[in-house]
Amino acid sequence: MADRHLEPDTQELRARWGGFAFTPEWEAKARAEIAKYPDGRQRSAVMALLDIAQRQVGEETATQGWLPIPVMEYVARYLDMPVIRVVEVASFYTMYNLVPVGRFHVQVCRTTPCWLRGSDDILKACKAKGMKKGEVSADGLWTLTEVECMGNCASAPMFQINDDNYEDLTAESAARILDELAAGGTPKTGTQLSGRHTVETLGGPTNLTAMVDANHDYRGEW
Ligand code: FES
Repeated sequence: MADRHLEPDTQELRARWGGFAFTPEWEAKARAEIAKYPDGRQRSAVMALLDIAQRQVGEETATQGWLPIPVMEYVARYLDMPVIRVVEVASFYTMYNLVPVGRFHVQVCRTTPCWLRGSDDILKACKAKGMKKGEVSADGLWTLTEVECMGNCASAPMFQINDDNYEDLTAESAARILDELAAGGTPKTGTQLSGRHTVETLGGPTNLTAMVDANHDYRGEW
């Protein structure tokens, strides 16, 4: 499980983030999220606003983004809710980064299906690029986190990097993806197995075969 703790609330942190406010672009997104809820229920948008705040921080720091305490306080004021309630949400969900991260946040799934399919090798491939768990690498490129099941068990092992998942990994394909990202490229997301589309059975489908290329109505055959 990922180690979760808040970045200490220091003078330097206040000096850097105490004046945080949404830019017009991000504020428009925040307003659109709040508008999805009835009047008086704006607090329901707290998860979306934390995500938006984290993305703005990411944009300002050229990283995946994180949530300094003053930024969480800003979200609390924005939604007229106690700061502790915002911190409770941010600290519960691992999609929110509570400490600074690198430009690429590499989250390696270590739960049983991924482990059985070689997540040890994936972790080694990450460490070979200079990553250490929970730290920003010296070049500012990487932060490595071990996470629990990311819902891609049928195409294990996998890692998620920022908003994208990479699946059916091997040590070699993982290293190639990391190299491409470091060079400014955009590696293929999803399965890395040639010939596999998503998570269909390896060797081809064995049932509902008429659905492979197009929608098919089976009802007349029941
Ligand atoms: S166990 Fe890794 S995605 Fe489910």
